[in-house]
Amino acid sequence: MGVSRWTQTQLESGGWVRRMFEEGQRLRLVHGDAAVIDLSLGQPLAAGSAIADAFREAASERFAGRFEYMPNLGYLDVRERTARDVDHPGVTASCIAMTPGAAAATCIAIRTFVESGEDIIGTTPHFAEYRLYAETAGARFVPVAARPDMTLDLDAIAAALGRSTAAVLLNSPCNPSGHVLQHEELHGVAELLRAHEARTGRRVLLIVDEVYRRLLYPPQQRLEPFAYYENTVLARSFSKDLGIAGERIGYLAVHPAIAGDAVTRGLELAMRALGFVNAPATAQRALLHLDDWGINVTPYRERRDLIVEGARAQRLDIVEPQGGIYLWLRSPFADALRFVEELAERRVLVVPGVAFGSPDHVRLCFSYAREKLRSALEVIASMAPAPA
Ligand SMILES: Cc1ncc(COP(=O)(O)O)c(C=O)c1O
Repeated sequence: MGVSRWTQTQLESGGWVRRMFEEGQRLRLVHGDAAVIDLSLGQPLAAGSAIADAFREAASERFAGRFEYMPNLGYLDVRERTARDVDHPGVTASCIAMTPGAAAATCIAIRTFVESGEDIIGTTPHFAEYRLYAETAGARFVPVAARPDMTLDLDAIAAALGRSTAAVLLNSPCNPSGHVLQHEELHGVAELLRAHEARTGRRVLLIVDEVYRRLLYPPQQRLEPFAYYENTVLARSFSKDLGIAGERIGYLAVHPAIAGDAVTRGLELAMRALGFVNAPATAQRALLHLDDWGINVTPYRERRDLIVEGARAQRLDIVEPQGGIYLWLRSPFADALRFVEELAERRVLVVPGVAFGSPDHVRLCFSYAREKLRSALEVIASMAPAPA
């Protein structure tokens, strides 16, 4: 039985992050864990003991229906607690859908608000899975290049907006560039979308993927997208900041101005239609056993500083990450794939920029042990000067 043409195409053209991760696992089997520096997958740092305690308490909770199906958008008390996590007036439980991570939150937003055949504008470099999320809903992902400093190119977004545009999908902090959306950018996009609606009658949804929202490095501060534009949804997650990516828990927050019965029913339907049904019960309950959802950003910031200083010392062409867990590096080799391959031969694994729509870059994840980061920098230094 062959796989579908769409699946075949995706398998041939994409999946770089997972491919490198699998290569890392293969190398670990052959050479042992210590000999491999795998900076490919965006793994968060290990979860603290408070998280393990919260999961233990959640697992031992007993109430009627504890192991039964539940409302598709999650337990009401969890949604109420989550609504308080969204710092915007008017956000209540009815604006919240608990989901298996930000991935599912983005997918249900697209399924609920975008018609098949319509366009979703994103910015390059972009998270590799966005194209899959769009195409799964029959939509088209239309990437528009960011400016060299990684800020939004508002003119390019304006030029891409058309009658078939249903949504703009932004990511802040950005995977892979580490860029954090600034006031001028959010204000600019909101103005563009309002002007587009006034001209065409077409209301465009803004989806902001905030999976790394608590991983911000001073002086960066998070701006609230809801304050800029009403037709906005936020895809959020506990995968990265709480270090529980495997537990699959996140949520979609819908701006109170567009929340309502039809949207609630639509999101419930999308949860079923995409096969998620509901976010994992124990992970939802665990959130209620945590006094505080804040995180200590220091271990991440220290690693960010270590990798940035090391890269600068080698005069590598980088964009300093303002948030998130990645270093976005212009390949020191003219052929970035060759650079990635040569690193892999030295048992250092990174992801080629082609996975993010920018073939001349590579992405390193820096939320790993400091020794591994130092070793990776040494290997890169040993490969300079760059062959043409
Ligand atoms: C930009 C971005 N969005 C979404 C996701 C998926 O996150 P989650 O585990 O919350 O589904 C990731 C994971 O790496 C990501 O980098």
